[in-house]
Amino acid sequence: MFLKNAWYVACTPDEIDGKPLGRKICGESIVFYRGEGGAVVALEDFCPHRGAPLSLGFVRDGRLVCGYHGLEMGCDGKASSMPGQRVGGFPPVRRYAALERYGFVWVWPGDASQADPAKLHPLPWAEDPAWAYGGGLYHIRCDYRLMIDNLMDLTHETYVHASSIGQKEIDEAPPKTVSQGDEVVTSRFMHNISAPPFWQMALRGNGLADDVPVDRWQICRFTPPSHVMIEVGVAHAGHGGYDAPAGRKASSVVVDFITPETETSIWYFWGMARNFQPDDTDLTARIREGQGKIFAEDLEMLERQQQNLLAWPERSLLKLNIDAGGVLSRKVIDRLLVEERGQPAGRTIVPITAVKESS
Ligand code: FES
Ligand SMILES: [Fe+2]
Repeated sequence: MFLKNAWYVACTPDEIDGKPLGRKICGESIVFYRGEGGAVVALEDFCPHRGAPLSLGFVRDGRLVCGYHGLEMGCDGKASSMPGQRVGGFPPVRRYAALERYGFVWVWPGDASQADPAKLHPLPWAEDPAWAYGGGLYHIRCDYRLMIDNLMDLTHETYVHASSIGQKEIDEAPPKTVSQGDEVVTSRFMHNISAPPFWQMALRGNGLADDVPVDRWQICRFTPPSHVMIEVGVAHAGHGGYDAPAGRKASSVVVDFITPETETSIWYFWGMARNFQPDDTDLTARIREGQGKIFAEDLEMLERQQQNLLAWPERSLLKLNIDAGGVLSRKVIDRLLVEERGQPAGRTIVPITAVKESS
């Protein structure tokens, strides 16, 4: 179960360039397109005539035209015309709240009357020319909470991402997790280590030596409904680590918008925002390529984990100290689900029952 009264990233603007996009989000089949004046519109992906997906149609003068028999929809979800027919009595389809900001199209899959733009996750870097962003989208067949677990416990980097960002010192530096209101923060700091290949590339990209000891940090922040922003970076050792001056470090924010599609699949919008060399488009492309490969490594692990959980629904899982970030994030989601729907997400898809603390 997922929170519906929240803003989720639905797509990137290029995905609705000149054509409608059909995408299921939180179990809702939605068609996105640019209506009159170019504003984003989100409607039920269901033609009131015979139920064809409206996303198979096309946009003409800001109106969505069904690709089956030509029914034309207004942005309000009401049929506006159809060749040879009077459409006044046609039932409307649902309109969802949607808007475009920070380089993303956002949708509110729940009660549109509660959709307040002020509740959007703030992304100040997205509107600041001192920052650059590159990212992508993966479709992954797993419960959205498995991806939250993954991002809130980066010990997996040592194993899943051994050739890029993994290193044994991650295992040796225990994370600290705190919950503040709806936010959960897991942080880890490593000192006087060598930079793994991805971070060597980033140091070079910022004109810094890549073969000297560094201090490294990872600060993972979960916020509802399912966003994880991770401050990551390395600084030449002994210059203040996280607080080192800009000329001594390469740091960035790993951006993770996890949009549930169904109970067992997600649209994963990943990316990296950085505030060094923002005009270096080649560097943006190199970082994006490296990050895309890294997240593709998570994809197989998460899908196979989901298959196991579905095959053995009665099996108990452990909660170790490294799992605290994911566990506390799920608690926040469950509390908000009770407020929104009167019940928590439950254990049907991801059964966590037995608890064993690690020493
Ligand atoms: S199903 Fe859409 S016009 Fe007929
Ligand atoms: Fe990963």
